[in-house]
Amino acid sequence: MPTVELVNVSKRFGRIIAAENVNLRIEDGEYITVVGPSGCGKTTTLRIIAGLVKPDKGKVLIDGVDVSAAPPEERGIGFVFQNYALFPHMTVWENVTYGPWVRGWDERRMSEVAREMLNLVNLSGREDAYPRELSGGMQQRVALSRALATETRLLLLDEPLGALDAKIRVELRREIRKLVKDLGVTAIHVTHDTEEAMMVSDRIVVMRRGRIEQVGSPKEIYLKPKTLFVAGFVGEMNFFEGVVTEKSSGTITVKLEGGRDRIVVKDEDNGFRRGNRVVVAVRPENITLGNVEEGSPQGVIEDVLFLGSMVKVTVLLANGVRVTTYALPYSSVKVGDRVSIYFDPSDCNLFAHPGIPLTEALKG
Ligand SMILES: Nc1ncnc2c1ncn2[C@@H]1O[C@H](COP(=O)(O)OP(=O)(O)O)[C@@H](O)[C@H]1O
Ligand SMILES: [Mg+2]
Repeated sequence: MPTVELVNVSKRFGRIIAAENVNLRIEDGEYITVVGPSGCGKTTTLRIIAGLVKPDKGKVLIDGVDVSAAPPEERGIGFVFQNYALFPHMTVWENVTYGPWVRGWDERRMSEVAREMLNLVNLSGREDAYPRELSGGMQQRVALSRALATETRLLLLDEPLGALDAKIRVELRREIRKLVKDLGVTAIHVTHDTEEAMMVSDRIVVMRRGRIEQVGSPKEIYLKPKTLFVAGFVGEMNFFEGVVTEKSSGTITVKLEGGRDRIVVKDEDNGFRRGNRVVVAVRPENITLGNVEEGSPQGVIEDVLFLGSMVKVTVLLANGVRVTTYALPYSSVKVGDRVSIYFDPSDCNLFAHPGIPLTEALKG
């Protein structure tokens, strides 16, 4: 049963750092996604595991065995790409049985597995179709059954849903996760879509500039981001820069830059002291708008965007910072209203100020 380990893996392309000292252990049967902005090294990392890219340094262990020198075909891996990569001149059946056929399986075993795989992805009855006769979603289901038909125990998926329509994408997310869990395979799924990652993963790996920023369950990553970058990359986030002015009975008061407003946050014993520059991160769903009150950050509603089930509200604070939150569509908020923003002191994350412009610290 496959565990996968990357030990001190580094890879450069000229001066570009695609992977920098990557250490990661993936447990047997785990569904892991690797997320990060375009160019951060997700595909390179996946291809290193597959044996398609040779790292400059470090090793890859599968089930505890160093496979660094093993060619891709000896690593027992199934691969699914964004562009389906089906053989266009072969039927669904021929595509799915190709791997077993190359491996010289006997007819009976080959048919049994192929039938089971097509059944699992709801494509029984479409064996004789050619890829061009199928929708994108169906083609990707064929690609999945083809990857799994060799009884691989390790499935690598590179942006597998990237080319599909939004609705199909969400449907297939569920299906892939279920398939992986039913078969008990280990899956490593690369995507730039953090919502997709949160929905399918046991754990998420967030990468930036070739390095791992954080590894954790979807909840940990969303609720307790370890770095400003993770806080800004996964989901929506509001950031407030300020200085600690007071610490008392479990709370920290932060005076916001560019004004007199103060906010109070929970003191999580992170060692912040009076005078420290900090950044407070608050999710839009944790911010409520209320009547203007002295002391709490105030501003003017700048924009109300109708999204159907919700409206997205942007407030321009007196200090020039924009804050977004969501409200019900029938609530009475309107552009030009003066409001104060409120949030629970425990519904935020406090970071040391990076000492560079926030936009730089959040950039991919
Ligand atoms: N074969 C290659 N030759 C040169 N540069 C490459 C090659 N493969 C990837 N890169 C570069 O390495 C960086 C990481 O690429 P990649 O792993 O594809 O990122 P991601 O999948 O996260 O978008 C990018 O800057 C990319 O341009
Ligand atoms: Mg990629």
